Order: sequence, then structure tokens, then C-alpha cells
Amino acid sequence: MNTYGDMFRVTVFGESHGRAVGAVVDGCPSNLPLNEEDIQKELNRRKPGQSIFSTPRKEEDKVEILSGIFRGKTTGAPILGLVYNKNMRPKDYEKIKDTPRPGHADLTYKLKYKNYDYRGGGRASGRVTIGHVIGGAIAKKLLSYTYNIKILGYTVKIGKIEGDFSYYKNPEVFENKESLKSLEESIEKSPLRCPSTNSVEMEEYILKAMEEKDSVGGVVEIVALNVPIGVGNPIFNKLNAELARGLMSINAVKGVEVGLGFKSAELYGSEMNDEMYFDEDKNIKFRTNHCGGVLGGISCGTPIVLRIAIKPTPSIGKKQRTINLKTYENVEIEIGGRHDPVIVPRIIPVAEAMVAITLADLMIKSGFIHPCSL
Ligand SMILES: Cc1cc2nc3c(=O)[nH]c(=O)nc-3n(C[C@H](O)[C@H](O)[C@H](O)COP(=O)(O)O)c2cc1C
Repeated sequence: MNTYGDMFRVTVFGESHGRAVGAVVDGCPSNLPLNEEDIQKELNRRKPGQSIFSTPRKEEDKVEILSGIFRGKTTGAPILGLVYNKNMRPKDYEKIKDTPRPGHADLTYKLKYKNYDYRGGGRASGRVTIGHVIGGAIAKKLLSYTYNIKILGYTVKIGKIEGDFSYYKNPEVFENKESLKSLEESIEKSPLRCPSTNSVEMEEYILKAMEEKDSVGGVVEIVALNVPIGVGNPIFNKLNAELARGLMSINAVKGVEVGLGFKSAELYGSEMNDEMYFDEDKNIKFRTNHCGGVLGGISCGTPIVLRIAIKPTPSIGKKQRTINLKTYENVEIEIGGRHDPVIVPRIIPVAEAMVAITLADLMIKSGFIHPCSL
């Protein structure tokens, strides 16, 4: 239940207030150049304290690789990536020991497992996604080394404020090296990882919610470029089905769309269908990318475009009604502690990681990448 993938397998471990969190990655082929910096740069994008829109919990999130690498390259043996928890404040959570917080996993974990580590949400904490990012960083390196695959995510909506995006109509943004580079730069420059011109409006929306001791959600788009035609194994290992499973496994994700997603239900077939043509070199091209890069569960060579809906952070300072499981009373709680007022910008490296792991696993399973050695 803590392992994702069949051949490229990522097992995540640890709790928010335990000693450490991390991942064991098994099934990464040998001979892949890999070092701690490859993983650290991804963890730095996830770590807390990057802006006022993330939790003030101060964690360095420094990764140590304990196995699986020799002379700068993978050996094919399990790779263990470890991050020690340093800035724990378990006392913050004493109050909620018997009073499950609305929107959290407290109630279900407590009823199911009885012995629940409630400190910071324990196993259900967003902190556990450090393991996802470690696995994802290795998968990203494997995909870029073998197929020059690039995965990037960015915020497209915060609360009700929508960014101005028209990528489906303009796939050239991703094809042109310069425009891709400038897109990446503007994503990482923005505290919300939102390259849209109205991102300040989104920031104001969050600040207003913060003043009212509330939180907000949003939508993130993830794009995978240069995925070759043929990835995905129908019927039950379809590329879109596997990607949706990976993304839905992330805490706080409440919906996944592929391509135009739910909007496709409103269109006529003539509007939805992506028409094909041959370019001058007789390469197969599509005039649009409404399908989001997947036809019949198999990649069709266009960018894979996915969207995830992220719910507002469940921990809020506002008074909420809940129950006390010890006294059987209905009670009210106000949640203290340190929390993200919005999870959206920090979930982006996690979502990219799940897309990378899913692709790596499918590409090894389908013979695109040799399972043993590069
Ligand atoms: C990267 C990341 C960071 C998160 N940070 C917080 C946080 O600071 N406070 C909080 O209440 N929930 C946070 N969450 C969400 C909870 O982990 C999650 O909502 C909760 O465990 C309930 O699970 P569910 O929303 O999937 O049902 C975070 C999730 C992720 C993926």
C-alpha cells in the first residue's frame, strides 16, 4: 500500500513528526548518472518556507542517498533517499489527539488503525510527499536521459481566479526552445508558480483568505513533453488511467482531467477532434491537442496535458465543529500549528513526480527503456 509502480517501484516511508521521511526506489536501470543534487533541486522546490504562501515550518529537507549508486551512476540496486525531520513541534497537536480535524485524515486513520500518530497528521501529512519527490527526481532523470522527456507543472487557477492560458490552441509554446525556457523561468519566479499575467490577483485572493483565517484551493496543469508514440497498455494499464491513479494518490487532490477533460463534454465532435496532417518531412502532426496527448490509452506524440484540482488546505484557524472521540461530545476547535494557506504551489513538484514515476514505470514495462541497464 506504500509502493507505487510495478517495475520502477517507489516505496515511501516516514511520518510528519517521526525521525525521517523518504523513499526506496527499486527497479531503476543501472548506468544512469545520478547524484544527490539531482534529487535536492526537486526537494528544494517542494520544501516549506519558499514564500508567505507556504507553511512557516522550517525544514532544510536535505537528502542523503544511502544506497544504489556507485561512481556517480545507478547500479540497478535499490536507491534509498532519506530526509531527517528536524523542526518538529508535537505539542501543537496534543489538543487534537481525540478531536479529529475536519477535512483531515484524522478520523479515518484513527478508526481504521487505532494506533494513529496524530502529530502533524502522521502518515497522512503532506510531508510524506518528500518520498514521492525523491522517486520522481530519479524518474525524471531517467526519462530525460533516455528520451529527453520534460515534465513541467504550473498553477492555472487559485480559488475562483482563473489564469489566462490557451496552450491547447498553441502547442508551439512547448516546441520552441526559447519560449519553453521563458515559460519555465516565469513559473519558478512566481510565488504561486503561476506564469499568468493575473497571478497578483490570485495572491491577493489568498491574502484575503489568510486574513479571515481561511485557506484556498486551485488547479494545476502538468505537461509532459517528448513522450514517444505508443506509451500505455490498454485495456487496464491505459496511459490516462495510470496517470490519473498516480495523481489521485497525492493528498488533497480531488480531481484529474486529461486534455480538455470535463470541458470536452460541452463540445461538438467537430470541435473536440484533433485533426491530423503530415508536415513537410512527412511527420504526423495534430492541428490541436484537445485529447491531451492520449488516444485509446496510448500516447500519440503530442504533449501530455493533465490538470488536477487541489482542495483548500484543511487546517484553518477559523472555528470549526467536530467531535471528541473520548468524551462523545460535540465540540469546537480552532487549529493552531503551522500550515500552508494554499497547497497548490507546493504540490506542483509532487504532481510532476507522480507523472514521471508513472511514465518511467510504463516505459520500462512496454520496452521503451531497458529494465536492467542503460
Ligand atoms: C505538499 C502538500 C502539503 C500539504 N500541507 C498541508 C498543510 O500545511 N496543512 C494541512 O492541513 N494539510 C496539508 N496538506 C493536505 C493534507 O495532507 C490532506 O488534505 C489530508 O491528509 C487529507 O487527505 P485528503 O485531502 O487527500 O482527503 C498538504 C498536502 C500536500 C500534498
